This record gives sequence, C-alpha cells and structure tokens, in this order.
Amino acid sequence: MQPWHRNAVVYQIYPRSFKDTNGDGIGDLAGIIKQLDYLNDGTETSLGIGALWLSPIYRSPMVDGGYDVLDHSAIDPRFGDLATFDQLVTEAHRRGIKVIMDFVANHTSHEHPWFLEARSSRDSPKRDWYIWRDPKSAGLPPNNWLSVFGGPAWTFDAKTRQYYLHSFFPEQPDLNWRNPEVEARMREVMRFWLDRGVDGFRVDAVLFVAKDSRFRDDPPNPSYRAGKDDPFLSLRHMYSLGGKEVTSLLEKWCEIVAAKDDGLLVSEVDLPLSELRSLYCACANHRHLPFNFNLMRLPWSASWYRTFIDHYEASLSPEDLPNYVLGNHDRPRVATRLGQSAARLSAMLLLTLRGLPFIYYGDELGMEDVMVPPDEVKDPWEFRIGRFGTGRDPARTPMQWDGSRWAGFSQVKPWLPLEVEYQKRNVAAESRDPHSFLTLYRTLIHVRNSSPALTIGTYRSLLPRSERNVLAFARECPAEKLLVVLNFSSHEEMVSLGYPKASVICTTGLDIPRGEVVDPRKLTLRPSEGYLLRIE
Ligand code: GLC
Repeated sequence: MQPWHRNAVVYQIYPRSFKDTNGDGIGDLAGIIKQLDYLNDGTETSLGIGALWLSPIYRSPMVDGGYDVLDHSAIDPRFGDLATFDQLVTEAHRRGIKVIMDFVANHTSHEHPWFLEARSSRDSPKRDWYIWRDPKSAGLPPNNWLSVFGGPAWTFDAKTRQYYLHSFFPEQPDLNWRNPEVEARMREVMRFWLDRGVDGFRVDAVLFVAKDSRFRDDPPNPSYRAGKDDPFLSLRHMYSLGGKEVTSLLEKWCEIVAAKDDGLLVSEVDLPLSELRSLYCACANHRHLPFNFNLMRLPWSASWYRTFIDHYEASLSPEDLPNYVLGNHDRPRVATRLGQSAARLSAMLLLTLRGLPFIYYGDELGMEDVMVPPDEVKDPWEFRIGRFGTGRDPARTPMQWDGSRWAGFSQVKPWLPLEVEYQKRNVAAESRDPHSFLTLYRTLIHVRNSSPALTIGTYRSLLPRSERNVLAFARECPAEKLLVVLNFSSHEEMVSLGYPKASVICTTGLDIPRGEVVDPRKLTLRPSEGYLLRIE
C-alpha cells in the first residue's frame, strides 16, 4: 500500500476565512469541522481531497495572521481550543483526511514568553534563544540585512541596548537555531502536535533558520530597480538566509515526523529548479518535499510549462515526490493572475500531473482577488511598504458558501470584504451547475483518486519542444494509459498525437460527454480548452 502522500490532493485552509460559527466575523475550527463533508464525505458530491493543511491556529497577537506565535501548544481563542482541535483531527481522520499543521520555525511573536524573558536582561537564561548584536559604531544596526516586510532586519532594544534580528516584522523576532535548547524545545513542539494526531507539518520560511554565523553584509543586487521593485530585492540574500544548516535541520525534523508511519514534511521555499534538488536530498527517509512554486511564476506558455515540468521530473529520483502549487495565502489568486478560462486549464494541469497537488481554499470556485478599501486593510505589509502592492488581503477573503448576505461564511460582517461576484461564485450555486469551476475540480479530483495512471503512473511529455500553444503529456501505468492535452492559447488549435483512438474522460468545459470517442491524430481544441483522454 502506498503512503497517503503518494496520491493525495492537499487543500490549504486559511482558518480565518473558511467558516465562522461563533458570530465574530472570523473563521474558526468548529467551522472547519462543520464543512469537512464538503471536503470529503466519501462520495463524489464532495471535493474528495485527502489532506488539509491549516495555516497557523496557535495563540497569537495576529500581527502577521498567526505567523507570530505566542504559545506553541495552545489554540488561539479566536479559532477555538484544544478540545475542538482534537475533535477536528478525529473528524478529519474519520473521513480519510490527513491533517498538516503549519510549523513556524524561524520566529515567534515578540509577546512570546521566551522573548519577553530574553529581552528582560542581557543575563537572561533565554537571551541566546534569539539573535542579539551590539550596534555598529554610531549606534547603527549590526549589518545591512533587510526585513522581508520592509526596513532593516534589526530593531534596537532600548532597555538592554542591543539590536535583535527579525527577518519579518519587528513583532516576529528570529529564534537562534544554533542554540541547542531552541532546537530541543521546538522538537517538543512538533512531538506535542504529532501526539495529538497530526500527520505532518508545513515548515514556514525554512531558509531563514540558517544565517551566516559571521553576520556578513549581504551584497547589493545589480538587477534591482530602485523605486520600482520591492526594496527587499535591493540585496542578494547570500548571508541572511539559506545557509547549509537548513538541510541538517530538515533531516532532524524528518526523523521526528517519522515517528508517525506516514508523516510528511513540506518546507516553504521559493526556489528555482536548480536549487530544489538539494533540499529533496536533505531527508534520507523521503518524507520531505520542498514546495515547488515555479508554476506561479512561469509565463503562461505551453513551452515554458513543458520545459519546466520535464526538467523537474528529470531532476527527481524515483522516491522523490513532485508537487505543484497554483496559489496560497501570500500570492494573488490564480483566477486573477490567469483569468477564469486559463485558470480552469491550470486546474486540469494541476490535478493530472504526478505528485502532490496543493489547492488553496476557494480556488476550486474560481475565486478572485478582492480589492480591499484602505480603511479595511488587515495585512500590515500593505501599509508598511504599501506602494509596492505587497498586501496579501485580496487573496485571503472569506470562503463563498452560498449567495446569502455574508456568503454563508458568517452571520455578521466578515473580517475582510467579500468578492463582488460571490452571489454567483459560491459552493451552493456551483454545486448545481454541471459546468462550473467547482464541478470541474470535483470531477478531476475523483478521476484522479480512482486512476492508477494519475496517482502512480509515469509522466511523459508529447509533441515537439517547439510547440508553444499546446501542452500534451501521457500518464501511464500497466493498468491504464491517459493523455492530457491543454491549449494554452486563446484561439483554436489542432494537434496530432500518435494514437488512433481515445475516449473522453472530461474536458475543461465539461461539455463533451464522458466516453465520447475522439481521434488524437486530428484533435481540435477550442481556446483554453483541455482534454483528459483514455487511450483505448
Ligand atoms: C511565510 C508565510 C507568510 C508569513 C511569513 C512569515 O512566507 O507564508 O504568510 O508572513 O512566512 O512567517
């Protein structure tokens, strides 16, 4: 029997925006439990996912949406409590859904008791749990490192007259992973949640845990365009992140996760292909995969996609699991980036490639970014360096369950505004529509779940490399042979694939009956149309 992560579809829930049951306008764990049947009730009327990843639900002042943890073993009261969490895990498992927690390794909240103690005096036993340095001469920060969220990565602590390091907001001081006590304490955190039944972790901002021990200045980035690019890009982050200790830490975390028969570790990195491979190698027991965000960055062209996927596939060893991501809580929504039709095509791609597909909540409805008025902005990144459009609220708006006053998300005004189109783009309406985005997702996931070719089969690209508009590949195993043919262009395309006969499993438009026979040697695709075919 294959471990679950060889063939599951993973669904990311941003808990603040999934479902509110206690009437405060913010999603909660009871809301997630309530909607588990939507995710997988064992029938084809549900989405059919096999795992869910929860963005942080730890107790937090929520400066960075929970990525500023105040207590690693407590649930934030906005979301519920440990008893409700345990119930969520039980109910998810009962439906065959695995649960992955976010593990925020690099930093804590500045209100975390560890940091309060560390900053209380230079002699505090926890002082070295964080990263402190004397000012450079003239009171300047110790080096030129920048915070991802704007400004220097150092903040001066007036009481103890030293700077502390924060790779993100000043309210998120970086832990010192060179201190063995930190490593030991965080190991306990992982064990705490594994003991409560979680099936793995998504490790947040993993590259930041390893910085240069000599704290050398980062060199300037020659391709930075001052005034146009996010100021964080003005340096090449050679020393402030990505040290080689990352791999040894990953290896240790993999061992912890291995306490669970089929535990999984997914680490958050945003790296080109050339650098993903070394992270795959970190973990001898093949329980780790580094996120592959490359599809969110590639130009929308069949040849770019094909080149990337072919190289990615070729770079992996048989035990390494590929993964693909189209959206998450930090990026503009896929339907906004590509438009509705291309987003449907990208869904077919995501759910027919080899490995683990990650779905961001609401993307299965075709949800789009929401313009958030300035006085309703919640993500501080927006107003700290706002003019670069870095705010992430537009992709974090409430899930659209139905067409009622607050979209069935809440009984009261939600914490972020709803999408204007929510009355037509919602779970209830799309469930009734045989051609909707949601129906496409459900169809593809259920086909995937029951198809040996899509879950364990090989990947082989077809068509010449020079083909710019159509991406075609075969997924094969002894039991079945499938073809995926995707027209990336906005006009009709004709392709010829060397098989005399195939039958339709589904198309992106869901308007050609299943079983209809086509001739792949003369296949005409409408604009942005995709076919999933079975070779007869
Ligand atoms: C990761 C998270 C992001 C968060 C940051 C700092 O990139 O995805 O939401 O702000 O880490 O924790």
